Amino acid sequence: MLSGKKILLVITGSIAAYKTPILVRLLIKKGAEVKVVMTPAAMDFVSRLTLSTLTKSPVLVNLFDEETWANHVMLGRWADIMLIAPLSCNTLSKMATGQCDNLVMATYLSATCPVVAAPAMDEDMWHHPATRSNLELVRKHGCQLMEVSYGELASGLIGQGRMAEPEEIVSWLENYFTSAQILAGKKVLITAGPTYEPLDPVRFIGNYSSGKMGYALAEAFAAKGAAVHLVSGPVSIKTEVPGIQLTSVQTAAEMLEACQNYKEYDIAVMAAAVADYTPVTVASEKIKKTGDDLSLPLKRTADILGYLGKEKRDHQLLVGFALETTNEKEYARKKLTDKKADLIVMNSLRDEGAGFGVDTNKATLFYKDGREVPLELQTKQALAKTLVDSIIDLLL
Ligand code: CTP
Repeated sequence: MLSGKKILLVITGSIAAYKTPILVRLLIKKGAEVKVVMTPAAMDFVSRLTLSTLTKSPVLVNLFDEETWANHVMLGRWADIMLIAPLSCNTLSKMATGQCDNLVMATYLSATCPVVAAPAMDEDMWHHPATRSNLELVRKHGCQLMEVSYGELASGLIGQGRMAEPEEIVSWLENYFTSAQILAGKKVLITAGPTYEPLDPVRFIGNYSSGKMGYALAEAFAAKGAAVHLVSGPVSIKTEVPGIQLTSVQTAAEMLEACQNYKEYDIAVMAAAVADYTPVTVASEKIKKTGDDLSLPLKRTADILGYLGKEKRDHQLLVGFALETTNEKEYARKKLTDKKADLIVMNSLRDEGAGFGVDTNKATLFYKDGREVPLELQTKQALAKTLVDSIIDLLL
């Protein structure tokens, strides 16, 4: 799986850098071609000579070596993947802000290939809010992150923050190259977030949906090589992952409009919390208070999932969400048949950690063939990956 793959290994200043010669050996044994770029700080932990001997290639550290310019642009273009291992706290922070003060950063910022990083740092640094937000930012910029592990740290403390072991990094890469492009050529339509149904120029009917689940799904599909069209209601989150085309809408009617070219898609996942009703009329001026109560006539919005279900062709896969508070199974099954979906992802508000606003979700999958698969409570990103894998299984 790694045979012939071009891997650009970026080593930064962390004690875990001492494991990189083993990593390079393992990658080369698997048939990969490896080039190494390192930060000046990394040279305190691992020798440039060892790495250049193993890779049979010069190890680059500076933008200029004597009279030669290191062509950082071509390095990123040469590689099938850039692997940053170990990723230090300092380089992570530079990646988050785009600070370009060495060859590693120039290479990272100009790389056109996918980037994956294996962070390594002391546990307290790992948990610091600055590190958390830097990790989130680089993830949003499209850098994939390997898990850190728990164990003995350079400080002598036991905790989280150890770099993934070289063998784990190699299996991550093998998995990546096996599954990365599995959805290449597939087009995916995703709806996300709430809709806002205007009442007057300053008010609307909306809901608490954050859009996190739909955005996580869009990113998980893009990571598998799909071309994603994300139709999003008003949310405060963003995605900058390549491969995602974003259409921002406000109302259910606009969301439906943005899904009209459904026949072009192979997969559609309706994760938006679409308003079921919208005001019959939108007041052109602000509605002034008058009596003690106020009734507003509402009318049904178009059911986008239901509409796609009617249009669906045999080769297309349609997935819907159901957020329930009671009789969850019964309602989920009813949605599956009423909306002609292939899969309904049911969240129950009775499950702690599921639903709007939170970063986690717990779901049960209801399939057309009668299968019912309960999933663990997990982050929305992890659930998105599980859902994408379940959808891929349906395609195979
Ligand atoms: N959905 C949609 N268009 C709507 C309403 C919902 O596409 N106008 C989609 C959602 O994105 C979700 C699924 O349908 O995938 C939810 O089904 P829905 O019947 O709207 O759920 P509820 O509003 O919870 O239904 P009910 O009122 O029957 O509980």
